[in-house]
Amino acid sequence: MRAEDNRKITETGPGTPAGDWMRLYWQPAALTEELETERPVVPVRLLGEDLVLFRNDAGELGLIDRRCAHRGADLALGRLEDGGLRCYFHGWLFGTAGNCLDTPAEPEDSQLRAKVRIRSYPVVERNGIVWAYLGDGEPPELPALDCFTAPDAYTFAFKGYLDCNWLQALEVGIDPAHASYLHRFEEDDNTGDSYGKQFRGASLGTDLPMTKILREYGRPEILNARTEYGQRIVALRKLDKDGLDGSSTHVRITHQVFPHGITIPMSATIAITQWHVPIDDFSCYWYAMFTSLDAPVDRATMRAQRLDGITLPDYKPVRNRANNYLFDFHEQRTQTYTGLGKDINVHDQMAVEGQGRIYDRSRERLSRSDRAIITFRRMALKAIDTVAAGGHPDTLLMDTADVESRGPIPLDGIGPTGEWETYWAESIADLRKASPWASDLRAALATGPAGVPGSPVEPDRSQLPDAYGRD
Ligand code: FES
Ligand SMILES: [Fe+2]
Repeated sequence: MRAEDNRKITETGPGTPAGDWMRLYWQPAALTEELETERPVVPVRLLGEDLVLFRNDAGELGLIDRRCAHRGADLALGRLEDGGLRCYFHGWLFGTAGNCLDTPAEPEDSQLRAKVRIRSYPVVERNGIVWAYLGDGEPPELPALDCFTAPDAYTFAFKGYLDCNWLQALEVGIDPAHASYLHRFEEDDNTGDSYGKQFRGASLGTDLPMTKILREYGRPEILNARTEYGQRIVALRKLDKDGLDGSSTHVRITHQVFPHGITIPMSATIAITQWHVPIDDFSCYWYAMFTSLDAPVDRATMRAQRLDGITLPDYKPVRNRANNYLFDFHEQRTQTYTGLGKDINVHDQMAVEGQGRIYDRSRERLSRSDRAIITFRRMALKAIDTVAAGGHPDTLLMDTADVESRGPIPLDGIGPTGEWETYWAESIADLRKASPWASDLRAALATGPAGVPGSPVEPDRSQLPDAYGRD
């Protein structure tokens, strides 16, 4: 990748080309649980902007500039009162829409407050996350994806900090080969004890542990195709070892969702949609939305499992650069590929933080397994150029309820070799039919190459001299 393209695609601060593009989408700004305190005021750094999120006494949310409009004091430490957030310096009061409600040090007849505004952005709360729209003009609707349309009780949200650029965090999520290495466990746990954990259960319709399949089949065939929301990514592992005759194939279907999300299976019925939102160019948060098709989720269990590995209030991992991730050499020799314990989020964290704060893509050597990553970069660079030229990117599916954007529905299962498309269509139809909330939604049942109607499988561009030549 040319160094200038790497800068163009990674830098998202105000006024940058990728920043203008990313601001066309809603961004996850905080977990609802962060506001469930006696004083619901949370500093938020988002796409390089310092903001403060608060809930006033009427229950309304506001997301405003962190610096006071008067002389720049820090509103994150302001007084939450009188319907807004009041600066502790000279008492100016700001409402949720950024309007100035009071300038108490001014003369009684002062009209100053009518002329003062502080920067503010629209916010909406959905399924455990507060979403913010940092773009110009009227915000679009949230997209019609399962994670947004599922009833609250069928969802669980959590987040975690990553000490690197957002694109590294996204790219590990669209790289199906790494799971056989980075997330390798030498022993299979009891799959019955896998609730709330990734890669610890059995594949759909079998008792074969996912850990065993990933460990023994390290060369997946990868097919990716463009969709209106991003890409569908299919990883096929033909099962022909240990007495298996190759008549069945492990099929894992995941999705890349613009601008910085993925949807992957956690279990047969729970999907994870995970967003990788820039804090600034050097750090990001992942926000995971767990969406259950069949039953309400056990939030207390899932939250407790995840609280163990982080520190509040920043959701920063206990294992981090500063303590060398609590790396255990003996464990790496005998139990796990990384020596970093069993939490796969920590494995991903080490992998992407290990690439540096902003990875220099001009020095990498791509391989065939990187095909979805290459496609993403091509699509994103094109979208950034389109926005810079005043146009709309193709993948701006913000308010569509179109068939294909339903879901997207991930899958981890075992089907007949050579017939994965039929297997995929039938499995997702059965899963949706059985769902109390998704059964009447139309699903992406028509299939084509890579399961996407009308979209060809992307060619392998990894060995081309210019993998990013614009379409
Ligand atoms: S700096 Fe905030 S009121 Fe003066
Ligand atoms: Fe991973």
